[in-house]
Formats: sequence, structure tokens, C-alpha cells
Amino acid sequence: MSNWQDSPFKIEAKENQTLAFCSCGFSDNAPYCDSSHKKEISRTSPIIINFKKNETISACGCRHSNNRPFCDGTHNTLKNKKDSLAVNDEIDQEC
Ligand code: FES
Repeated sequence: MSNWQDSPFKIEAKENQTLAFCSCGFSDNAPYCDSSHKKEISRTSPIIINFKKNETISACGCRHSNNRPFCDGTHNTLKNKKDSLAVNDEIDQEC
């Protein structure tokens, strides 16, 4: 079951930790990749980030950020929760 939301996920990343973030929008383990991109018609692959230090990040939960996997505030411009939770066709086309 999808756990995407209309607000960012706060992530406590650790030094030297590598995380794989979903870029296709189909993951059931948002904001992380669960390999759903392999099952869906998608040309995407996860966004891999190696954190150089301990840091708190805001990962996009609405799937509309233009700076994925990070929240860029776009969720604040969405009209309602339904818009934010819809899989955005542009996500697949950009990657
Ligand atoms: S949650 Fe902020 S842009 Fe998606």
C-alpha cells in the first residue's frame, strides 16, 4: 500500500549512509525505492545519495518536486490532497 503523502518526509541521514530514493512514484515504501520501477512501465531508476555527514533532509512526499528527492515546496501549491497523491505522468517522462 502506498504511503505517499501531501507533505515532505523528514529523514535523519547518517554519515556515509547511502539511500535509494524512488523516482518513479510507484514505490510502496516512499520516499525510498522498493524496485517498483522494474514492475511498472517506467524508464526511471532510483536516485542514489551517499550522505557525507549526519543531516536532516526533507524528502518529497507528494511526488511533484522539481528537485527530487528533496522537497522544493511544490506541495504547498497543490490544490488539494488528491492532486498531491496522483501519480504525475510527467515523472515518468522526465527520467
Ligand atoms: S512534499 Fe514538498 S514538494 Fe513534494
